[in-house]
Amino acid sequence: MAQPRLLQLHSATDTASAAEAAAGLLGMPASLPPKYFYDAQGSRLFDAITELSEYYPTRTEAGIFAAHGTAIADAVRSSTSLNPVIVDLGAGNCAKGAALFPMLAPRRYVAVDISADYLAKALAQLQRDHPTLDLLGVGLDFSSRLALPSELTGARALVFYPGSSIGNFDPAAALALLRQAHEMTAGGALLIGVDLVKTIDVLEAAYDDALGVTAAFNLNLLRHLNRLLGTDFDLRHWRHVALFNRAESRIEMHLESHQAQWVRWPGGERRFAAGERIHTENSYKWTLEGFSGLLRQAGFAEPRHWTDPLGWYGVFVAGA
Ligand code: TRP
Repeated sequence: MAQPRLLQLHSATDTASAAEAAAGLLGMPASLPPKYFYDAQGSRLFDAITELSEYYPTRTEAGIFAAHGTAIADAVRSSTSLNPVIVDLGAGNCAKGAALFPMLAPRRYVAVDISADYLAKALAQLQRDHPTLDLLGVGLDFSSRLALPSELTGARALVFYPGSSIGNFDPAAALALLRQAHEMTAGGALLIGVDLVKTIDVLEAAYDDALGVTAAFNLNLLRHLNRLLGTDFDLRHWRHVALFNRAESRIEMHLESHQAQWVRWPGGERRFAAGERIHTENSYKWTLEGFSGLLRQAGFAEPRHWTDPLGWYGVFVAGA
């Protein structure tokens, strides 16, 4: 049986991460980098979010693949090499990537996520199911820059970016990331899932569910930071806020201070007024036309898309 290879390409030093978080906390308005959502607890809470009835993106994307998988795979194959290398961005448990194997028969699967360690378990399991497939786990924070050694991806690869994670970048950063993805495919294709603009109540419920799982996910960021940075956030004094900002076409997640309070950490402190917020994440919502235009701007040719019957979510295939 082949063995998965693991490669950690970049990880910010603890000091750099602490400085980045502290700078965000001191900002006006305050903000925190969303990467701190994903400690072990945060990753489990995120998995729970994807199963909530209010959180439609995961199951809607899956429904589009179920209904149009053959056509999507045909579109992918018309641009990529035979038995392409699949590069899965934000691969996590690798389940969505592995679901492509039967149709695309890749020669290599490159799972990219923030930590190679986090990928090790999923890849080991995947290797048992696919004993001869070449599996590679790459630890890379591609939110700052997406670049892999070209000998790993070869020519005409498929870059796979599901889950509407592109929505967590503002349009300028999304364009920059898509340009880097275009370069990485080396003449191949991009397969990407994108959440679309819809009525405000559906959008806001998806990010503020009745069970409070998304609230727990957002608040967990403070717990993680207390551990990482030594901040003294008291979680009882903060509440989750999710709102759709129509002018920017994005869901915003914030943590709002219940009361006037100080937050202290080694080397800094900040006072928060009652009602003051820390901005923790954005999730941009695109239109089909808007996202097709973005793909073209990034250098992709003839983007095609598939959507669900309600037009809530789009799956795009674009040739490089
Ligand atoms: N990118 C997905 C989205 O924006 C998943 C996601 C990222 C998410 N961060 C989140 C979902 C925070 C809920 C809350 O929908």
